[in-house]
Amino acid sequence: MQAVAEALRTARHVVVFTGAGVSAESGIPTFRDALTGLWQRFDPAELATPEAFRRDPALVWGWYEWRRARVLAAQPNPAHRAIVELAGLVPRLTLVTQNVDDLHERAGSGGAIHLHGSLHAPRCFACARPITGLAADLREPQEGRRIDPPRCAHCGGPVRPGVVWFGEELPTQALEQAFDAAQSCDLLLSVGTSGVVYPAAQIPRLALQAGARVVHVNMQPVEVGGAREMSLVGAAGELLAALVERVKAADGASHSHPS
Ligand code: OAD
Repeated sequence: MQAVAEALRTARHVVVFTGAGVSAESGIPTFRDALTGLWQRFDPAELATPEAFRRDPALVWGWYEWRRARVLAAQPNPAHRAIVELAGLVPRLTLVTQNVDDLHERAGSGGAIHLHGSLHAPRCFACARPITGLAADLREPQEGRRIDPPRCAHCGGPVRPGVVWFGEELPTQALEQAFDAAQSCDLLLSVGTSGVVYPAAQIPRLALQAGARVVHVNMQPVEVGGAREMSLVGAAGELLAALVERVKAADGASHSHPS
């Protein structure tokens, strides 16, 4: 912890790269955790591909509305808040997330790069126009409930969730910005991600190759490859909050002893 806090204190550009684990303490399920992970209970081929939507739009839309309802009912947790605080303590911080929730934004992070889209930005499946005015009050959706997607006011096509599905390209600009940030930072914190979904999973490796330090914050130990890579094991909320406290304490100490 002390070494990471020191690296944070001296870094000029920090990238925080987050996955589902950062929202786990808000009660949002991850994808691959044993027992609770969404992909342990649901088949991505039936729910998270364009073919699945074409085959059964009501099943897919209902599932994403259920997920959106959970996010709307959730609150940001100490991990999201620690990232906001960290941004105020370092010269530059770029937040890159694979998450489709808006908990970083609701905690106060501006300008997060969303690599996998958003549950809150649906668009037409046929003409791709963005759709506004989705109900923000979602008491109804329950797990497994089918819901017919709304229709696009312009072309009548079915509305799809604004997330990246398996087999789809990531948004080009977001991916470029994330790769650039990874290659120009001096420290990358990879928080709560299993690092198995490409191309996002390349991001920590790009930072390492460009000479940055990479710190994994995860409930599970992450295998590290060399002296510039570290693994902190524990809950993101606790570890990030503790890191921020250490950075603040060290900053305070250095200000009270000017050289
Ligand atoms: P995963 O579910 O694959 O991984 C979550 C990671 O978070 C695991 O390594 C856990 O050990 C860790 N974790 C769980 N709770 C934690 C906590 N409280 N604190 C710290 N770590 C914790 O989720 P992602 O890596 O985000 O893709 O998955 C990547 C992509 O796969 C997702 O963006 C999604 C999914 O298919 C799309 O939607 C396109």
